[in-house]
Amino acid sequence: MVRLRPLLTLTALLPSAVLGAYKITLTPFNTLLVTNGGTSLLVNNSAILSGPQNTTVTPLQNITTGLSYTFLTPSVAKITLNTSSAFHGARFTSSSPSTRFFGVWEYPFNGKIDNEGVAFDLKGVGNEVGINWSNARAPFLLSSEGYGVYTDTLKMGSYDFTKNGEAQFIFNSSSLVYYIILPKLPTSNSTASSTAGGLKSVIEQYTALSARSEMPPTSGLGPTFWSDDFTLDFHGSVSNAQENIQDVVNHLYYNQIRATSTFADRPFGSGNRSWGNFDFDPVQYPDPEAFIKNLTDYGFDFQVWVANRAQKGTKLFNASSANDWLFPDDHPQGALGEALNLSIPEAYKYFEGQLEYFPSVGVKGYKIDRGEEGEMPDYVQNEQITLFIDLAYQTMVSKFGKSGFYSFARSAVDRSRAKTHVWNGDSHADFTGLAYSVASGIRSGLISFGIWGSDTGGYSRDSALGTLSPTPELWARWMWFSAFSPVYELMLGTNHTPWYAPYENTSTTAIMKQTSNLHADLTPYIKAYAHQSSKNGLPIIRALFLEAEDEDAWDTTDAYFFGSELLVAPIVTNGSEREVYFPKGPSARYLEYFDKNEIYEAGTTADVSANLSSIPVFVKEGAIIPRGDVFQGNAKWISNWTPELRLEVFPSWEVPESRFVYYDGEGENGREVEFVLRTEAEIGKITVDLRGFKVDAVEVFTQFIEDEGEDVQSGRGKTKKGKVTKFSGAETSEGRVLELYL
Ligand SMILES: *[C@@H]1O[C@H](CO)[C@@H](O)[C@H](O)[C@H]1NC(C)=O
Ligand SMILES: *[C@@H]1O[C@H](CO)[C@@H](O)[C@H](O)[C@H]1NC(C)=O
Ligand SMILES: *[C@@H]1O[C@H](CO)[C@@H](O)[C@H](O)[C@H]1NC(C)=O
Ligand SMILES: *[C@@H]1O[C@H](CO)[C@@H](O)[C@H](O)[C@H]1NC(C)=O
Ligand SMILES: *[C@@H]1O[C@H](CO)[C@@H](O)[C@H](O)[C@H]1NC(C)=O
Ligand SMILES: *[C@@H]1O[C@H](CO)[C@@H](O)[C@H](O)[C@H]1NC(C)=O
Ligand SMILES: *[C@@H]1O[C@H](CO)[C@@H](O)[C@H](O)[C@H]1NC(C)=O
Ligand SMILES: *[C@@H]1O[C@H](CO)[C@@H](O)[C@H](O)[C@H]1NC(C)=O
Ligand SMILES: *[C@@H]1O[C@H](CO)[C@@H](O)[C@H](O)[C@H]1NC(C)=O
Ligand SMILES: *[C@@H]1O[C@H](CO)[C@@H](O)[C@H](O)[C@H]1NC(C)=O
Ligand SMILES: *[C@@H]1O[C@H](CO)[C@@H](O)[C@H](O)[C@H]1NC(C)=O
Ligand SMILES: *[C@@H]1O[C@H](CO)[C@@H](O)[C@H](O)[C@H]1NC(C)=O
Repeated sequence: MVRLRPLLTLTALLPSAVLGAYKITLTPFNTLLVTNGGTSLLVNNSAILSGPQNTTVTPLQNITTGLSYTFLTPSVAKITLNTSSAFHGARFTSSSPSTRFFGVWEYPFNGKIDNEGVAFDLKGVGNEVGINWSNARAPFLLSSEGYGVYTDTLKMGSYDFTKNGEAQFIFNSSSLVYYIILPKLPTSNSTASSTAGGLKSVIEQYTALSARSEMPPTSGLGPTFWSDDFTLDFHGSVSNAQENIQDVVNHLYYNQIRATSTFADRPFGSGNRSWGNFDFDPVQYPDPEAFIKNLTDYGFDFQVWVANRAQKGTKLFNASSANDWLFPDDHPQGALGEALNLSIPEAYKYFEGQLEYFPSVGVKGYKIDRGEEGEMPDYVQNEQITLFIDLAYQTMVSKFGKSGFYSFARSAVDRSRAKTHVWNGDSHADFTGLAYSVASGIRSGLISFGIWGSDTGGYSRDSALGTLSPTPELWARWMWFSAFSPVYELMLGTNHTPWYAPYENTSTTAIMKQTSNLHADLTPYIKAYAHQSSKNGLPIIRALFLEAEDEDAWDTTDAYFFGSELLVAPIVTNGSEREVYFPKGPSARYLEYFDKNEIYEAGTTADVSANLSSIPVFVKEGAIIPRGDVFQGNAKWISNWTPELRLEVFPSWEVPESRFVYYDGEGENGREVEFVLRTEAEIGKITVDLRGFKVDAVEVFTQFIEDEGEDVQSGRGKTKKGKVTKFSGAETSEGRVLELYL
């Protein structure tokens, strides 16, 4: 645990209603200052930049025209720049050199969640330490001083954080709009809701201007098992890709491992490198429509790989080449195929029309690859990937409707957030890859790509024969991380299928089952947060500092809040131990979530350990955790399956009331239910209000109360120390108010 220099706390910056509104002023020194009612300085936009090249921009002097600024809402200032210069930008300076800047990229440069020392373009990151092509990005930065800056453009730009206490961006555009986003001001009727103020409200306001994730179908959250090449690695009687996928389906069934979808990476089509003819290879997939229908009957959604790439000799290439739709073929990476200029309306229309084949045979979403490998000029990357994600989305939404499919991309810019989710690219199958993946998950959350997963075990494997890559230990650790990721997806295939050699005699299949089934059982919790994210932009994987206004939590790269109830501290190194810092603010105490024995005080650091069949996870006092089997997926081994929802509650006398906003239903057609947990210490009473909603069980864990030295004797005569009181049957099936006296 890295201990930090003290920083300004957010609370110090939070304006109070008494102080009045934010003000923005242009000084005689050509800086824009945002103040709290003209008193304390909140934001120093120390220079407004312009110039003919990004290397020659200078601060605008004595501005008379071309700049305007105004408050769009009481806490969002809009700045518009429009001069004859080709490049525009801005600089923000803090009086404290230890101010941190977060956001912009998903990729964790230097393994960190903040951007100290980084200068890079707002484009895809290539082969890098830990993860290749970890490429979600957003022209949005967050300052530890409590504000955010969103630049509303798809033009190429660069961000520079190499000077302590300073952030700068420059975009290739003669006009630029950026927003300085401040914490929401408390209003007379504001409540204690999660985004009432602070950085959470900055993210909420940013995503209101930009875009928010669409609610995924429950099947999108996984578990998802796929192969990089289903045309290889046949076992038993398998003779083609289609049967190979069925072999996976069957192994999952017989091992009773929960799953909701699978997808075919390339190759799966006919023609040059199997992409560009918009079909399935008839040898590998003799009857795609019947095959996909059968997969659906077994509880699996099916996705395919797509990219804006045209291989010579294919339908896509022939049409594009005849019509002059291709960018010049000058990319450095060999025969990867050329890209279409989707700014040409005919090219866009053609591609969209061809892609419609896939939803027409039942494919429900895409793995959207590439767009940042040099196949087009870098300065159009953001515009072009956004167009490609748009057209891919259109083909799916017109067939299945919103939330009726699941697409995920590695390269995505913020405006695409509503049209695709993300995976973090090609992670390396080693502990650095895992550690970087955890950090990239936290970073993805800070730019609000909330529905996110990583290739469990790593994508770039060391295929040296006879080695286990990933090692069973690394794979197990990563599976636990994916259990506590919004999406659990895992790559199988040649030399890395848990039930085949060389893993057959390891514990890998058992841990895969344990973690997949746990992820499935956490679905009610994850889905509720996915829904909240679609409404307020808040991610599910949350940097500690989003929940905790605790300066010791700013830099944590290897632990996060999963929603706001659970603190997850995955083991990302060899061995079974790690340190965990318990942040101050969100909870005074944290209970180890699985064994429910140890309680940790906020503000302390502890050594914890977990063998390969666990992960350090801690629950807040007052938490309500909905869990259970709410989506059948492939669990056809359960006859007469019916959904089952249970609530785990962790009452504490210190938390008189807590709430959880649950989401029942699919897509946009569900409804929110706010469960309430109340405690009254004076009379020893615990109340769980189900708000009329039927649940199958409520489990009351009283460890926090026992920790206060209480000798817990349930009024219902069931509770003994360390035992759980369970309500079920008629007690919970009418959604009544449950009462327990201790
Ligand atoms: C804003 O930052 C600039 C550059 O560091 C500095 O010269 C100026 O004094 C700052 N303004 C205020 C009001 O602190
Ligand atoms: C800007 O205005 C100030 C005050 O009027 C003046 O002293 C200065 O020379 C001007 N700077 C430029 C670059 O025109
Ligand atoms: C920028 O200013 C020019 C000249 O005043 C105007 O024609 C143009 O529409 C403006 N562009 C934007 C994006 O505001
Ligand atoms: C990933 O990056 C490494 C360098 O870190 C490189 O050796 C490797 O070829 C890359 N793999 C892929 C699939 O791009
Ligand atoms: C200028 O643009 C080029 C091309 O996008 C980029 O590589 C470089 O980092 C940029 N430099 C600055 C200072 O923005
Ligand atoms: C800026 O964009 C223009 C096209 O609008 C392009 O020609 C130029 O190369 C870009 N500059 C940089 C540095 O990327
Ligand atoms: C306060 O609550 C009222 C009624 O719910 C609502 O219409 C109004 O927009 C709220 N005001 C603010 C500033 O949120
Ligand atoms: C349907 O899928 C199941 C499960 O993968 C498989 O065992 C069966 O052979 C398939 N049936 C057909 C007709 O393909
Ligand atoms: C396949 O496509 C690549 C990239 O366009 C090209 O270099 C190669 O020559 C093509 N091969 C054939 C057999 O057409
Ligand atoms: C594309 O054009 C080439 C050359 O004319 C031809 O050989 C090939 O069959 C065409 N591809 C398709 C899918 O029609
Ligand atoms: C892409 O096509 C658009 C529309 O025709 C055109 O304006 C633009 O210059 C093209 N971009 C490149 C890099 O060729
Ligand atoms: C796994 O165990 C089986 C049964 O003991 C044995 O036949 C097989 O060779 C073992 N596989 C490996 C890779 O050690």
